[in-house]
Amino acid sequence: MAIFPLQISGLRYAPQGREVLVGVDLELGDDGITLVLGPNGAGKSVLLRMICGLIEPTAGTLAWGKARGPRPEQGVMMVFQHPMMLRMSVLQNATLGLKPLGLAARERGRLGVEMLERVGLADRAGESARRLSGGEQQRLALARAWLTKPRLLLLDEPTASLDPSASAAVERIIREIRTDGTRILMVTHNLGQATRLADDIVFMSGGRVCEHTSVRAFFSRPRSDEARLFIQGELPWRMRFQGA
Ligand SMILES: Nc1ncnc2c1ncn2[C@@H]1O[C@H](COP(=O)(O)OP(=O)(O)OP(=O)(O)O)[C@@H](O)[C@H]1O
Ligand SMILES: [Mg+2]
Repeated sequence: MAIFPLQISGLRYAPQGREVLVGVDLELGDDGITLVLGPNGAGKSVLLRMICGLIEPTAGTLAWGKARGPRPEQGVMMVFQHPMMLRMSVLQNATLGLKPLGLAARERGRLGVEMLERVGLADRAGESARRLSGGEQQRLALARAWLTKPRLLLLDEPTASLDPSASAAVERIIREIRTDGTRILMVTHNLGQATRLADDIVFMSGGRVCEHTSVRAFFSRPRSDEARLFIQGELPWRMRFQGA
């Protein structure tokens, strides 16, 4: 079933009357990496969870594909900042998503090892996944999602607690997943990362999407006051480090 365009209209989320999303409108085409930026509490994680089907909207619609149908049963995956690893080996964790597809165990293992090679974890296949470092677990979580060949991959701050070299490894994998044909929607607080990875930027503030624009336009000519203030708040930090 076709997933794109994903058309989000008037999406509201008000648990116990608390306005978290106040009317999100957003359209996602079928190609590229879209980065979601915005201050703490803007509603970025809630939006991703809603797209993934983990939270039900209070109002509004998510219409999938040209037929504007419901969310497809398969093809949408999400990876969190702290991915959950089951008490199993690295290889078993990597292939978890293949189980429902009815592949023979041997074939699952072959695909799993091949994928672990792509993310640089093949030599750790037999170890307990929970013993991996944060950066290694994040690579494993991406491998697990990637193996299912999702059409849309939702990433919520996948590098937030990683050091620069682990972040660079994760960024490289994200680019490869995209080249492999997966549409990516990713939240980050790292503006440098946004300029490196994004095709376009979604800026959220106060429970709504304020801007959806190209990277260049967002950083050079932000339209909303919120985006201008957000960029100004972050830029001195970046420039200090880049200039050092
Ligand atoms: N189930 C809920 N009930 C009440 N409030 C909620 C619920 N879920 C989220 N919120 C609130 O919604 C707001 C947006 O949360 P969200 O986690 O989406 O922010 P965010 O943009 O991802 O922020 P951050 O950058 O800090 O991760 C927060 O104030 C949060 O406390
Ligand atoms: Mg969040």
